[in-house]
Amino acid sequence: MSDRRPLIVGNWKMNGNHLEAIQMVQKLSYRLEETDYESVEIVVAPPFTSLRSIQIVLEQDRIPMKLGAQNVYWAEKGAYTGEVSATMLAKMNVTHVIVGHSERRAIFGETDSDVNKKAKAALSADMTPIVCVGETLEQREAGEAEAVVTNQLNGSIKGLEGAFVVAYEPVWAIGTGRNALPEDAALMARVIREGLRERVGSDRAELTSILYGGSVNPVNIKDLMAKSDIDGALVGGASLDPDKFASIIRYRI
Ligand code: PGA
Repeated sequence: MSDRRPLIVGNWKMNGNHLEAIQMVQKLSYRLEETDYESVEIVVAPPFTSLRSIQIVLEQDRIPMKLGAQNVYWAEKGAYTGEVSATMLAKMNVTHVIVGHSERRAIFGETDSDVNKKAKAALSADMTPIVCVGETLEQREAGEAEAVVTNQLNGSIKGLEGAFVVAYEPVWAIGTGRNALPEDAALMARVIREGLRERVGSDRAELTSILYGGSVNPVNIKDLMAKSDIDGALVGGASLDPDKFASIIRYRI
């Protein structure tokens, strides 16, 4: 195992209003102990409308959880109706921003170059981008998984100066209850680590956390985390249930 500290991120997607979000975070915190925060870096990424409420709860109750956003726009300000800038997020103590989630790529047509600009915007506001990559089932069955993921990675992290996280999320495993086998996820994480070595050098590649995402649950997390190149998880559905999310975070126990 490396020195990389495990990172577990809850991606709530478009779920919960701000009142429900407050309850979810409080329930989660009741289920966690100080040692959990010491051993794992925990991030919750609610919809934009809940960020401010959760920020206040985390600060008032001194909960050492971090706040993530699910998206960002690369311009600093201006006539971009419906968008949110990196500086606006950073001002609310958002520390992580998910960029290039497969849902954004597939439903909203985001390209690697868009993802790259978003990651740069996050870094410029001192936030850590979580760059998502992953192949579809068709691509996997055609034996293209490694090539697709490597291409996405190269396009998305081009010229990034600063620390970022990579999330490997095979599209066929997201929200399907069908997680990648830990061996397959580990193989792709190794491919990503190798790609990182080539693009950003060995030292930075060693420091970069690689997460697995796609139907992570309290049962499969242990085997996934046992793989040396998997440093954490990006959790969707199960992160909406405080009991499940807490036991994922406490996978060691
Ligand atoms: P899931 O989603 O855990 O519900 O499969 C993961 C993700 O999309 O980040």
